[in-house]
Amino acid sequence: MSTTHAPTKDRSAARTLARLWPYVRPVRVRLFAAAGVAVVASCTGLVFPLVLKWMVDGPVADRDSAGVWLGALYLLLLGIAEAGLFGLRRWLVARPLSRVEAEMRADLYRHLQRLPVAFHDRWPSGQLLSRGTTDLMLLRMFLAFPLTFLLVNAVTILVGVIIMLLQDWTLGLVILGPAVPVIVTCVIFERRYAHVARLAQDQVGDLTTVVEESVLGIRIIKGFGRHRSQARAFRELSRKLRGTELHKARLLATIWGVIVTLPELALGATLVLGTVQVADGSLSAGTLVAFLSTALALRWPVESIGFLLAMSQEAATATERFFEVMDESPETHLTPVEEAPFRGAGNCATSPNGGAPNNDGIRFTSVSFRYPDAPPDSPPILDRIDLHIRPGESMALVGATGTGKTTLTALVPRLHEVTSGHITLDGEDITAMPREELRALVSVAFEEPTLFSTSVGDNVLMGAEEGAGQPELDRALAVAQADFAHALPQGTDTKVGEQGLSLSGGQRQRLALARAVVGKPRFLVLDDPLSALDVHTEAAVEAALRDVLADTTALIVAHRPSTVLLADRVALLSEGRITAVGTHQELLRTNAEYAHLMSGVQSANPEQEDER
Ligand SMILES: Nc1ncnc2c1ncn2[C@@H]1O[C@H](COP(=O)(O)OP(=O)(O)OP(=O)(O)O)[C@@H](O)[C@H]1O
Ligand SMILES: [Mg+2]
Repeated sequence: MSTTHAPTKDRSAARTLARLWPYVRPVRVRLFAAAGVAVVASCTGLVFPLVLKWMVDGPVADRDSAGVWLGALYLLLLGIAEAGLFGLRRWLVARPLSRVEAEMRADLYRHLQRLPVAFHDRWPSGQLLSRGTTDLMLLRMFLAFPLTFLLVNAVTILVGVIIMLLQDWTLGLVILGPAVPVIVTCVIFERRYAHVARLAQDQVGDLTTVVEESVLGIRIIKGFGRHRSQARAFRELSRKLRGTELHKARLLATIWGVIVTLPELALGATLVLGTVQVADGSLSAGTLVAFLSTALALRWPVESIGFLLAMSQEAATATERFFEVMDESPETHLTPVEEAPFRGAGNCATSPNGGAPNNDGIRFTSVSFRYPDAPPDSPPILDRIDLHIRPGESMALVGATGTGKTTLTALVPRLHEVTSGHITLDGEDITAMPREELRALVSVAFEEPTLFSTSVGDNVLMGAEEGAGQPELDRALAVAQADFAHALPQGTDTKVGEQGLSLSGGQRQRLALARAVVGKPRFLVLDDPLSALDVHTEAAVEAALRDVLADTTALIVAHRPSTVLLADRVALLSEGRITAVGTHQELLRTNAEYAHLMSGVQSANPEQEDER
């Protein structure tokens, strides 16, 4: 998990936050208008002291009660105007900001869908979940408050200070005294807070991963009686997060303390100085009242700077985490290093008629593969694989567990990219086809039958073209011997639970198989699709599949002889190489490793290999 925790040192919060501009741009008019309204509203607050000054030095001094009432009316109107303006600001920003959040979330989701499988192998899901939820919420809050109010407060403080200096410049200088230490504290705080904010948000991600895993794995946890240790692990993580949050709180308390205390001291000093001056007669009582109430009106704008800065830091962290995902490059149409030269000259190397699509089936030419995160000196999982599956043929792929069968099948729909070599479908290099086209051509069913929390019918029809309906669905269910679907409470409209956990393993497998065959694909890649079925059901599926496979070119990973019998020929994968190709019977006779794999009997002659 720690791979996703990027260092935060020397990050400029402002520069990071500037990356939000493309999302903010469409709503900029409203946002700026709202900021303008807020500045006006906030400065309206600074007019109060001036009215007070007028009242104290005028009507109050003259004991003119009508004048006092007039002053009170002015104050009331000012109050109403201020409240109305702040209300208007809220109204202006609410809708555009929820739009920004929704847009960013949609973008993130779209991007996650387009990122390669290798990315998802690497990133814990909780880290992605927390980025799509908590972090985006932080960003919306940032755009709503700190972004506006840092500006509003700065303008208000500036105007307030000018007003105070104009009232009495000596008192003004006294009140400005704490400015330097406060600014220094803010800078130090910023840097420290950035670090802890990042830590906290990453820890939320880790926590989310644990929650997600334990919810999905609840059967295992209960089955092994691990709820206590799981709870302990969770407590440990949440204790860490709490520690980080407390650290944040301590930093916030420190800056708050400094920001509140120093100005307060300065205020006390001006109160004493001002009173002395009024007693001397060198300052009017009204001016002192105006000065002090201006200073008091600036208390909130100054004090709130601490948490506005904190929120901005959290938003900068959230932005950084958001773009860490967005900056990952999605699956590209062409992989830049390999394909460009190959596309022009290469196809003729593998297809007899020079690259134009033909009936060539699936062909692996010198395909090597290693996982991107594998240590560089480790041997490749697949090593110069040459394999030809003739058009209309079904080829079984057999090999000991962990030899790379699943990996090999994943290369055909380009879930992983070959490290070197190439794969062609009917003579056309798969890297030269748009991915959508490739994936429409190739259907897959994996060992783990993944279903989505929607209806049975929708799950199966996912594998079909737009517009496919009940007839296609029924046919596919029949092929996969998944007629049980019709007997479900609402037939094929029955919703399956999250990940299809409301169905049995074999039922899920058959639905996944139905999904693979529903689109009558030209190429079919099945990774041990029948492992959870009893022999009778398996035989029935095979009989029905034979019809489908008649004009489909198929690669089928198999562990059991019964599945192998479905195929025309068998290829044996051993230590990263295809060591034998032939019919089941041939290989049984000639290849000891194959015979061993199929029978479970210790081979008599392990040397007898490589009979291609
Ligand atoms: N995403 C991955 N990242 C790194 N290594 C992986 C990844 N997936 C699989 N491997 C490694 O690749 C090797 C081959 O795995 P693969 O799943 O292809 O085997 P398999 O032949 O399908 O095995 P089985 O018969 O058990 O399904 C294994 O050693 C495995 O550890
Ligand atoms: Mg496998």
